[in-house]
Amino acid sequence: MLKSKIDVGETIFTTMSRLSLEHNAINLGQGFPDYPMDEALIALLNKAMTDGHNQYAPLAGATVLLKAISEKIHNLYGLAVNPATEICVTPGATYAIYTAFTTVLQPGDEVIVFEPAYDSYVPNIEINGARPVLIPLSAPNFRINWDAVKAAITPRTKMIITNNPHNPTGTLLSAEDMLQLQKIVLEHELYLLSDEVYEHLVFDGKSFESVMKYPELFQRSFVTYSFGKVYHCTGWKTGYCVAPEHLMKEFKKVHQYNAFCCFAPVQYAFAEYMKDPQAYLGLGKFFEPKRNLLETALSEAGLKPLPSYGSFFQVFDYSAHSDLDELDYAKKLTAEAGVSAIPVSSFYADKRNQQLLRFCFAKKDETLKQAGNRLKAFFSK
Ligand SMILES: Cc1ncc(COP(=O)(O)O)c(C=O)c1O
Repeated sequence: MLKSKIDVGETIFTTMSRLSLEHNAINLGQGFPDYPMDEALIALLNKAMTDGHNQYAPLAGATVLLKAISEKIHNLYGLAVNPATEICVTPGATYAIYTAFTTVLQPGDEVIVFEPAYDSYVPNIEINGARPVLIPLSAPNFRINWDAVKAAITPRTKMIITNNPHNPTGTLLSAEDMLQLQKIVLEHELYLLSDEVYEHLVFDGKSFESVMKYPELFQRSFVTYSFGKVYHCTGWKTGYCVAPEHLMKEFKKVHQYNAFCCFAPVQYAFAEYMKDPQAYLGLGKFFEPKRNLLETALSEAGLKPLPSYGSFFQVFDYSAHSDLDELDYAKKLTAEAGVSAIPVSSFYADKRNQQLLRFCFAKKDETLKQAGNRLKAFFSK
């Protein structure tokens, strides 16, 4: 019997989406929009194809797109990133994360991972023969204790991975967090993988502390982004990685014998679309009312919200309703209330139960209201 190098089962997103379909439930589990993306961007993709951008793109990406990304970073964060040597377009952020790990890690290396963690991090580390060193964060604030991070560092520690804004908790790293992180990374000569796919999805006037704002930290970082999250087109599976030249040179060696390059037409479409910064700068204003709608609807139904300041997720506590563990309760809500969510336990290696579920609010307002009504009806039975 063939066994792959990754010893894992089906992801929770596949499981819950399948159950959701089986029970005709409202799927607030998996993180993807249920509303249409901008037709102007679809038209730009069509145009790129009819204009003839249908052959292999350059390895790191179409020159126009690399330039657009570099200009955006400079305008937003004041960092000068060389478009020719410090950016690589990838088939989604997941691929960029895998490639960054594969670039850096040698067997026996250790990587500090904060939990709850996006599900690809740990298997990506393990397939490279390295060891995840897990630092669990706890509800309700999921703050990082930097003394615990210092205590977890050993001579084998090679890398830290952070995710800001954070999936699933919706928390943000503060400027103080970033300074602590920078101090640790520089002092111990570590590398940082900063997963910033929810860049721009920030609420309540909070500031987003990208690694790009910390030039010294950036010198030891791979920073990953996703066009899918920013432009409501997760199915286009396109992202990019930004890293200083000395790191990006090595990243490209891994990339060149894997994907080699990415779908060409979409790169020309994104380059054109990025000329209007409102499409990404307006994301906080677009999602904040959806977060408010979900928070109100689910609170009225009887779930206790935890604060979400970023991403398109919010975590709710159901402990007033049930002692079931998170996976069983997520299944119960799908089957009996007709609403699907993701157990937060699935983002921890030990699957710890805190009676928390993650809901996605990248959905039509009607969908969010309907989910609230279904839950209200279920809890009042
Ligand atoms: C934290 C985090 N990183 C990376 C990704 C993957 O992004 P992409 O779809 O571009 O591969 C996701 C998607 O859910 C995510 O939540």
